[in-house]
Amino acid sequence: MLRAAQSISKQRFVDAIVVGGGPCGLAVVGNILEQKPLGNQLWVDPVFRGGRVGDRYREVPSNTKVDLFIGFATAVAPFRQILASAPKPNAITALESLQQDQGCELGYAADMCVMLTDGVARHFDNVQQHHGKVTSATFDENTKLWTAVLDGKEHVKTPKLVLCTGSSPIENPLPVIEKLPQTLEMVHLDIGLTPSALAKTVKPDATVAVVGASHSAILVLMNLYNLASSTHPQLRIKWFTRHKDLSYAKYMDGWILRDNTGLKGQAAQWARENLDNDAFATSPVSKVMTKLFTPRGEEEQIYRAELPGCTHIVQAIGYKRDSLPDLGVVESADAKPEPLAIQHDDLTGRFFPKSPTGSSSNGRQHIPGLFGAGIAFPERVIDPLGNVEHAVGFWKFMRFLRKSVPEWVDTSKTS
Ligand SMILES: Cc1cc2nc3c(=O)[nH]c(=O)nc-3n(C[C@H](O)[C@H](O)[C@H](O)COP(=O)(O)OP(=O)(O)OC[C@H]3O[C@@H](n4cnc5c(N)ncnc54)[C@H](O)[C@@H]3O)c2cc1C
Ligand SMILES: NC(=O)c1ccc[n+]([C@@H]2O[C@H](COP(=O)([O-])OP(=O)(O)OC[C@H]3O[C@@H](n4cnc5c(N)ncnc54)[C@H](OP(=O)(O)O)[C@@H]3O)[C@@H](O)[C@H]2O)c1
Repeated sequence: MLRAAQSISKQRFVDAIVVGGGPCGLAVVGNILEQKPLGNQLWVDPVFRGGRVGDRYREVPSNTKVDLFIGFATAVAPFRQILASAPKPNAITALESLQQDQGCELGYAADMCVMLTDGVARHFDNVQQHHGKVTSATFDENTKLWTAVLDGKEHVKTPKLVLCTGSSPIENPLPVIEKLPQTLEMVHLDIGLTPSALAKTVKPDATVAVVGASHSAILVLMNLYNLASSTHPQLRIKWFTRHKDLSYAKYMDGWILRDNTGLKGQAAQWARENLDNDAFATSPVSKVMTKLFTPRGEEEQIYRAELPGCTHIVQAIGYKRDSLPDLGVVESADAKPEPLAIQHDDLTGRFFPKSPTGSSSNGRQHIPGLFGAGIAFPERVIDPLGNVEHAVGFWKFMRFLRKSVPEWVDTSKTS
């Protein structure tokens, strides 16, 4: 039976608090359960519906293969326990019915997260789900405990606080665009990535500017082109890119070059067939889209010349970390908390106190009991050719956590 969120008494103590109920928070909870089956966890999220993928990106085609979502769902024993007792058909059997070496709509992955999230509530009494937000967290240097505040009210103490708080599209208009006198309707990237919402947002005769050259931008261009070739025949697109050539992931011998930055999946296929320099001229896409190269330093004159006449703009220029709970530190329980600025250690998932001078972390100690993962705090990885990337994706979070959580829960190493 689904357990309702219980109210939390003041000054309660738990072994770990996981902040965020997206794919990464889910993976953290599963890994802690595997390492410390009897430990009490408090898991906090406003809705527990698969994070941003579940909330906003169900119509987006994945850039990872289906078998990696199943790998995520079966990576730890507590998840396997949930799957073993789940009635069929369910979100996993739906994933299993798809072609395993292809992508899928992210709705399938979101349903899998929701199934596991609900399964955690049903199977593990020692994980309490709190529907709300961690609004602040203060570290007591004397007791080495964190006090997290839920929704500005309830206080919970813990030695381990894990931040999986996610990221959102960068929304501020680019300075070069803000300077221009004309008014453009900004279309939020989440709308651009959702064909059903985009169709309702842009008028049939709109001219839409798109900025960017990575996964999001390509999918927005594809969605707009699909409208232009169906319900919106007058729609026109101006694509502003600072890359003459698109960057693709390349399958090597047992590893992937540009695994985290290069185009993959449906976005890659559509871009190869329609946007690449040799394909564009003969593609039907060129009938409705103008490609505008905006090298750094020369953007302004191009935007100035080309934006007039555009009615809408979609900026697909990357993501930024969502705001964190207010973090603080106190010397003892009755002292006044000082704000705590943090610097992510992207090799371990731990944090350093941020140096006021921005100097390197060399020689500084990690902040005890504070961890981060997911799109907001991804692992730094180095490929066999020495290229450095940050690893973002369901399976990558799981791989990192399987390696790191045993260290995080080992009190002798992280207190
Ligand atoms: C458009 C897009 C497509 C992607 N496609 C793929 C793909 O095909 N395959 C793949 O493997 N990966 C993909 N990713 C990458 C990654 O898997 C997703 O970004 C994923 O949603 C990241 O999970 P997360 O848990 O880190 O963050 P999120 O999904 O953003 O979840 C964070 C959660 O934390 C909650 N939260 C935030 N602050 C607080 C607080 N103070 N208290 C309580 N809760 C809080 C939020 O409400 C949210 O529910 C994609 C990413 C994007 C942006
Ligand atoms: N399932 C999917 O297919 C899918 C879809 C969308 C996103 N994602 C995932 O979500 C994450 C974010 O992807 P993303 O594509 O949104 O962002 P991103 O990978 O960070 O790419 C941002 C793009 O915007 C460009 N850009 C940034 N600032 C710019 C400026 N001032 N002017 C012009 N161009 C600018 C960047 O160019 P530079 O390289 O020159 O900086 C880059 O092309 C990734 O992990 C990705 O895998 C997945």
